[in-house]
Amino acid sequence: MDTMTAPVFTNQLIESFKKIAGEKFVLLDEESLHHYSHDETEDLHYLPDVVIKPKTAEEISAILKICNKEKINVTPRGAGTGLSGGALPHLGGVLLSTERMNSIVKIDERNLQVTTEPGVITEVLQNAVKEKNLFYPPDPSSRGSCFIGGNISENSGGPKAVKYGVVKDYVLNLEVVLPTGEIIWTGANVLKNATGYNLTQLIVGSEGTLGIVTKIVLRLIPLPKHDLLMLVPFSSAENACAAVSAIFRAGYTPSAMEFMERDALEWVSKFLDTSSVIIGDDVQAHLLIEVDGNNIDVLMQEMEGISAIVQEFDCGEILFADDAQQKAELWKMRRRVGEAVKSHSIYKEEDTVVPRAELPALLKGVKDIGKKYGFHSVCYGHAGDGNLHVNIIKGDLTDEQWNGSLKDGIKEIFVLTKKLGGTLSGEHGIGLVQKEYMSIFFDETQMRLMKEIKKIFDPNNILNPGKIFPV
Ligand code: LAC
Ligand code: ZN
Repeated sequence: MDTMTAPVFTNQLIESFKKIAGEKFVLLDEESLHHYSHDETEDLHYLPDVVIKPKTAEEISAILKICNKEKINVTPRGAGTGLSGGALPHLGGVLLSTERMNSIVKIDERNLQVTTEPGVITEVLQNAVKEKNLFYPPDPSSRGSCFIGGNISENSGGPKAVKYGVVKDYVLNLEVVLPTGEIIWTGANVLKNATGYNLTQLIVGSEGTLGIVTKIVLRLIPLPKHDLLMLVPFSSAENACAAVSAIFRAGYTPSAMEFMERDALEWVSKFLDTSSVIIGDDVQAHLLIEVDGNNIDVLMQEMEGISAIVQEFDCGEILFADDAQQKAELWKMRRRVGEAVKSHSIYKEEDTVVPRAELPALLKGVKDIGKKYGFHSVCYGHAGDGNLHVNIIKGDLTDEQWNGSLKDGIKEIFVLTKKLGGTLSGEHGIGLVQKEYMSIFFDETQMRLMKEIKKIFDPNNILNPGKIFPV
């Protein structure tokens, strides 16, 4: 394999990185470069020139000072579970991994807060606060492997977002190393803050283009005591989507409201080699609905109320999860749909989001566009948020179709998304693979404002360059 070390990476430069991060944590061997050349986005690979794994904000600061002076690209990376290519080093340069910054600094039980480093696995953080009866709700499907720092960069969501909000709703304060090497805190560890511009929220979702997050302060909430889960089959996917907004209109706020098309559940059953769910011949889609809280009687009433509503939408026999094991099994199936799709075929994932009541129109439109352009799609996602993951399957499409005319079909999906009042990404970000669609959603003035912000933070455009903005 051709590693093509650019001339800028002189021995002297590599030595200075080694001095900062330690000999062992500056990697140039092919295997490491290859390992860090991809995330979970499609089948994309780009080799970095060097991988650095610093341990502290001070080390990152020293590395960025050098890179800023020498105008070397730096791509920050968490666990590499991203789906929009935000961590792909597509222009080469330094790949900066936060994996060694993996300590939970402090759980503040008095104030219901946690301070953590970015390289902590999200589920590890959730379990650590759970031991104190506290709850950090944002739970992307990859929570067992993704890092909290990556979640901040992408403003991740997950199933619980529908009741509890997304990552941005929990971030109070961030320590950030700027591309110039300066280290700042963005705010304060308080629940209210009307003090100047909100730098904290500017960094959340900025996809590693404005700074590298090195410490995170999150607010927590008390852990709900109970949850109930049901899986509802529908003979029409549009009916399933229509039921979603009816449930909210009736006054219920489920803690999860997930949609899966027939193929999604069928493929994941095969992928996991399980027959836990028998999918009837006429079933076209499922809703996985969870309620949670402290009073089990109230939750039972909510489940009854929701059951009555879904019946108005012609649902089949509802499966109520009996115990923790069955709940875990159903959640495992839902969380691993993405992997099942990936293992089935090369695919492209679009992360459309519309106002909830427009979901049936979005789904119908996606299928109509698929017919027009000859592609098959598997749709699933966070129906309660109007967030539909549209997985376009390569299947029998030729490389020419896949890399050519398909783009027009995808564009049509996004034009429809915009017409329905929605936007390009609900939780996966723009990164590398969605940037060409930004102009559908933003005009020149909006793009100029964003680009100027980038310039103020990163005058030499060294930090994750070539992401978010089409040019
Ligand atoms: C999910 C990821 C793909 O919802 O966002 O499973
Ligand atoms: Zn999702």
